[in-house]
Amino acid sequence: METKILFRERRSVTFFNKDRDINDQLLEEIINLAVEAPSAFNLQPWRIIVVKTEENRQKLFKLANQQDKVLEAPVTLIIVGNKEGYSEKNPVWTEMLQSVGGDEQMVSGAKEAAAFLYGSSDERKLKFAESNAGLLSMAIMIAAKEFGVDSHPMSGIDFDGIHKEFDLTEGESVVMTISLGFYDESRQLYPRRPRRLFKEITTVV
Ligand SMILES: Cc1cc2nc3c(=O)[nH]c(=O)nc-3n(C[C@H](O)[C@H](O)[C@H](O)COP(=O)(O)O)c2cc1C
Repeated sequence: METKILFRERRSVTFFNKDRDINDQLLEEIINLAVEAPSAFNLQPWRIIVVKTEENRQKLFKLANQQDKVLEAPVTLIIVGNKEGYSEKNPVWTEMLQSVGGDEQMVSGAKEAAAFLYGSSDERKLKFAESNAGLLSMAIMIAAKEFGVDSHPMSGIDFDGIHKEFDLTEGESVVMTISLGFYDESRQLYPRRPRRLFKEITTVV
């Protein structure tokens, strides 16, 4: 789909067709396209929990303020940001070493810079995790639309409850959830609301 159309036709779909599943291959294709999203130092400080079983959808429904789309959509993703994604443990550093032709000095400089920029305060850690995983989230919704799949992002959720019930680690943060599925066309979405445009939201300095 043309990019302009993708942007204009993506909606937060409130009603999903309960009879249409997303097969594993389609979900994989969506995620594998979305991970082309940029991230700081290409560290990709994120992971995704795919909530699919009836039991887990019920659990998430309760933790998402009982928003019906969690039960109607075949899958809901929990987008998890890694507040420690700059650390040595991240396998991306090893891949980076290979991609810069084994230049260890360059990679150790990048590691040091990342540790300072993204790990030197709790605020920086959280911004690092959430800004990068936020970009992934948008990429998932656009990639889904490219494959004809509708989405709905949610932050009206119990972040702490999801963190606990879905066994996230201390270094991880729940960024948002995204339901994925197919719009139930028998129900009416409210019309797309207008956006505030360039003149209203920019200050040129
Ligand atoms: C980060 C984020 C969190 C959101 N949380 C919710 C939510 O919890 N419940 C809901 O009904 N809509 C939620 N929305 C959907 C917005 O209301 C919707 O994106 C906005 O009204 C614009 O509509 P559109 O996405 O159809 O263009 C959320 C959107 C974003 C980006």
